[in-house]
Amino acid sequence: MNLLVIGATGTLGRQIVRRALDEGHEVTCLVRTPRAATFLREWGASLVKGDLREPPTLKLALEGNTVVIDAATVRATDSLSIHEVDWEGKVALIQAAKAAGIQRYVFISILGSEKYPQVPLMDIKHCTELFLQESGLNYTILRPCGFFQGLIGQYAIPILEKQSVWVMDEASPTAYMDTQDIAKFAVNALSHSETERKTYDLAGPQTWSPEQLVELCEKFADQDAKVTRMSMRLLKGGQKWLDSSNGVGILQIA
Ligand SMILES: NC(=O)c1ccc[n+]([C@@H]2O[C@H](COP(=O)([O-])OP(=O)(O)OC[C@H]3O[C@@H](n4cnc5c(N)ncnc54)[C@H](OP(=O)(O)O)[C@@H]3O)[C@@H](O)[C@H]2O)c1
Repeated sequence: MNLLVIGATGTLGRQIVRRALDEGHEVTCLVRTPRAATFLREWGASLVKGDLREPPTLKLALEGNTVVIDAATVRATDSLSIHEVDWEGKVALIQAAKAAGIQRYVFISILGSEKYPQVPLMDIKHCTELFLQESGLNYTILRPCGFFQGLIGQYAIPILEKQSVWVMDEASPTAYMDTQDIAKFAVNALSHSETERKTYDLAGPQTWSPEQLVELCEKFADQDAKVTRMSMRLLKGGQKWLDSSNGVGILQIA
């Protein structure tokens, strides 16, 4: 199949590209910065320069493809908002895919997105799921739990480098999966017609509290972590204050 992968330079997106190439698919990646994506070309994928914020680039990238796998999301380091990338950008992509006659659209959402309308990314993911379901496209929605790979930067590296690890008080235990396993689901769905117009929750068998993750990393690093605790109540109070000040302000965590 001819696949267009959006978010191909990301933690999950690159695993999807790797898996799709290994399965013999022709893979095109829509990338914002081709220079930073040469590894994808070296693996055997084609690169098309584009941006979810620029609809004409989406039309061009879709040409010659029958499948879209969307694993993109706003980068925390970008100046763009969640609304601009994960809502406006995705609406433009879904509309362009429909117009291009795409036969299968795989969307990576987040586990439990419908349960947290107060969290902007979760709310937008849920709205995008609904928009895609009503688009008339032949979709598969995957709703993964947390990524194990994300824990490397959050816990493992700070502990190895003797930096502080930030831990939220009262955080609920979370399930995690390896992105290679999620990529397998995304690519295998393409050859299973029973996954068409279906939504799947993807989660590992176990949940982990931040304390358990710190303990695990301490064991592997063979050193104690410096843990800095953040209060959920303080963060919520800060969010209310930001909301009441129209988002203009600086949130300080004591
Ligand atoms: N991380 C988690 O624990 C987790 C858990 C559940 C679900 N998810 C979902 O899984 C998916 C993949 O997450 P991830 O952590 O792998 O993402 P990531 O590593 O942050 O990568 C984001 C990708 O989106 C691309 N992107 C950002 N803005 C773009 C734009 N305007 N136009 C085109 N591409 C753009 C980035 O490209 P550049 O390289 O150019 O920045 C990058 O390839 C997302 O939908 C996310 O919501 C993540």
